[in-house]
Amino acid sequence: MTFRVGDPALLIDDKGRQYLLRLEPGREFVFHKGAIPHEKLIGAEDGSWVETHQGARLLLLSPRLSDYVLRMKRGAQVVYPKDLGPILVYADIGPGMTVLEAGTGSGALTLGLARAVGTTGRVVSVERREDHHEFAVKTITRWFGEIPPHVELRVGAVEDSVAGVKPERIVLDVPEPWHVVRAAAEHQPTGGVLCAYLPTVPQVETTVETARETGRFAEIEVKEFLVREWNVSGRSVRPEHTMVGHTGFLVFMRRIQPAE
Ligand SMILES: C[S@@+](CC[C@H](N)C(=O)[O-])C[C@H]1O[C@@H](n2cnc3c(N)ncnc32)[C@H](O)[C@@H]1O
Repeated sequence: MTFRVGDPALLIDDKGRQYLLRLEPGREFVFHKGAIPHEKLIGAEDGSWVETHQGARLLLLSPRLSDYVLRMKRGAQVVYPKDLGPILVYADIGPGMTVLEAGTGSGALTLGLARAVGTTGRVVSVERREDHHEFAVKTITRWFGEIPPHVELRVGAVEDSVAGVKPERIVLDVPEPWHVVRAAAEHQPTGGVLCAYLPTVPQVETTVETARETGRFAEIEVKEFLVREWNVSGRSVRPEHTMVGHTGFLVFMRRIQPAE
């Protein structure tokens, strides 16, 4: 792949520091060891080396979605890559599916969902706060170059969208998902999956209790994912000394018909 105008790009220096940019003619990447005009990057090969005017070499790569999510400007707290992957797998997000998401926040989770459902699918992402919605429009546009036609960003309360969208999958990063669980008990198609990302135990309790009370959810699972990075350098092959201790719990459940 060669870089084009508007593409996100990642520059990595000799210390492994990463710099995320969006390629625009007339702009310049500047850091402590010199500058590179974007024109030198546009048309360059993914995985190639580039040099600043002071002779410092940097590696030029197309960012993975995980690089982008960790480096992009944030408004609301994002779902990190370590939780994004399990959400996509255990909520079983696949090509062609209709997904209802909230809140859009900074748009990190929306990006993962949009890629997973592909252009034959549909993501409706709802955000209560106008400023967060505006922010997400920017992050999603910076990644895709546009708001893709299969992604719809709404301002409002997600509870109000369940009946109209009839989503096969619901993915929630909101503080009170139990309101959505009640709406999903009425309007989500049976067989569907609902997933909630929750930072605290009381939120998990209330979500699971509400789901059980409705009698319309089964296969309720609560999971937590911890990732330990490793250092591999000569004979020093060992886990890193520090790790992220906590982000959130993931609750998954299947929408079912009530038992007779
Ligand atoms: C932690 S952020 C979501 C971050 C997002 N998952 C990401 O990865 O960028 C939570 C968002 O949910 C929004 N929110 C809270 N309750 C909501 C509701 N009932 N409907 C829609 N959005 C809601 C908040 O305004 C906030 O922006």
